[in-house]
Amino acid sequence: MNEVSIGFVGCGSHATNNLYPMLRYARCRLQAVCDLQPELAERNARIFGAKAHYTDVDRMLGSERLDAVMVVGPSELHHRVGLKALARGLPVFVEKPPAPDLARTRELIDAARANKTFLMTGFMKRHGMAYAKARAMIRSGEFVPAMGFFRYGHWAMTDLRGMLGGMCIHPIDLALSLMGEPVRVHSQMLRSARATSLAVTLRFASGTIAQLMLDASQPRIQEHVVLSGSMDGGNAMIVVDNVQQMEVHRQGRNGIDLLAPTLPEVAPEFDLEDIHVWRPDYGIPNMGQTRHFFQGFAGEVREFVNAVLERREPDPGHADAINAMRVIEAIAARPDGETDLTTFS
Ligand SMILES: NC(=O)c1ccc[n+]([C@@H]2O[C@H](COP(=O)([O-])OP(=O)(O)OC[C@H]3O[C@@H](n4cnc5c(N)ncnc54)[C@H](O)[C@@H]3O)[C@@H](O)[C@H]2O)c1
Repeated sequence: MNEVSIGFVGCGSHATNNLYPMLRYARCRLQAVCDLQPELAERNARIFGAKAHYTDVDRMLGSERLDAVMVVGPSELHHRVGLKALARGLPVFVEKPPAPDLARTRELIDAARANKTFLMTGFMKRHGMAYAKARAMIRSGEFVPAMGFFRYGHWAMTDLRGMLGGMCIHPIDLALSLMGEPVRVHSQMLRSARATSLAVTLRFASGTIAQLMLDASQPRIQEHVVLSGSMDGGNAMIVVDNVQQMEVHRQGRNGIDLLAPTLPEVAPEFDLEDIHVWRPDYGIPNMGQTRHFFQGFAGEVREFVNAVLERREPDPGHADAINAMRVIEAIAARPDGETDLTTFS
C-alpha cells in the first residue's frame, strides 16, 4: 500500500473547514464520505473529490474498499462508528473527545487491540509547529522542564463535562504530551450563572508540576504556555503565545544586579542573545507557514495516514487518549478537590 483509501464520516463545520482540506497534505485519497444530511455528504464529495457519498455508515463500510476511517461528529458518533470500523480491522481517527467518557474510550481501545489495529484521537496541538518543537527539545534532553503554565481561555460554558471534553481536553493533552505521565490532579472550580472555570494543578511521575487556568470567562480563545526548566545546566524557559509565536529564553545576564559600588556606576545589562524567537513570515507566500501547520491539523492528518502506511501506533496513541480522559474523569468527579491518579480508574 502506498496510498491510504479513506472513508470520512461527518461533513460538519469543523470537519469541513479544518480536516478535509488537510487530506491533500497526506499520502491518501478520499474514497467516500458519509453524513446523515445528504446535501452535506454530496457537497463534501464534490469539493474534496470523493468517489462516493453516503448517508448510512453501515452502507459505506459494507460497500467501499477502505484502508482507514475518520469520524468527526458528536462524541457518541466517535464511539459508535469507531467500534464498527475497528471491528473490521480498520485504523480509526476520531476527533476529541474520543468518546463521551473514559469507559467508552477504553471500549474503543480494547476493540482496536482485539482487532490488531489502532485508534488515534484528534489532539492536533501535539502537531502544531511550536508545540512539536518544544516537545522535540524535551525529548532530546535539550530542555528539561520543571514547571508548566497553561492558560486556556474560551467563551462562556456552564456544563462542566461539556467544557472538559469539548475544550479543556486540548490543554490537558498538551500538558501531558509535554510533561509526561500524570499522577495527581488538584482542581478548584469557579462557577457562575454564565461560566464554569477551573484552576487545575497536575503533578507528573517525573516530579514536575503544571498549572492549568481553564477559563471560560474570556471573550475569545486565548492560549499561552510557559515551560520553565533548564538548558545546559542554566535556568531556561520556553514560551508559546497564541499557538504560533515561540520564544526560548536561556539564562542571560539581564536583570542580574551587578552590585555597583555607587548608584552612578550602575550599568544595566542589555543582553539580547539569550532569547531566541520564532514567528511566521507572512511577507511571502509559503505553503508551510499557514495555520494548517501552526495549529497542527495538517500534521495530525499526516501522522494518521503515515501510521496506517507504516502499520504502527500513531502519536497520540492509546495511552494518551486514556490519560487525557482519566484526568477529565477525575476532575468531573471532584471539581473541588484532589485525586490520586495512580489509584483512580
Ligand atoms: N480539534 C479542534 O480544534 C476542534 C474544533 C471544533 C470541533 N472539534 C470536534 O469536532 C467534532 C465535530 O465538529 P463539527 O464542527 O464538524 O460538528 P458538526 O456538529 O458541525 O457536524 C457533525 C456532523 O455529523 C453528522 N452526523 C451525526 N450523526 C451522524 C451519523 N450517524 N452518520 C453520519 N453523519 C452523522 C451531522 O449530520 C453533522 O453534519 C466534535 O467532536 C468537536 O469536539 C474539534
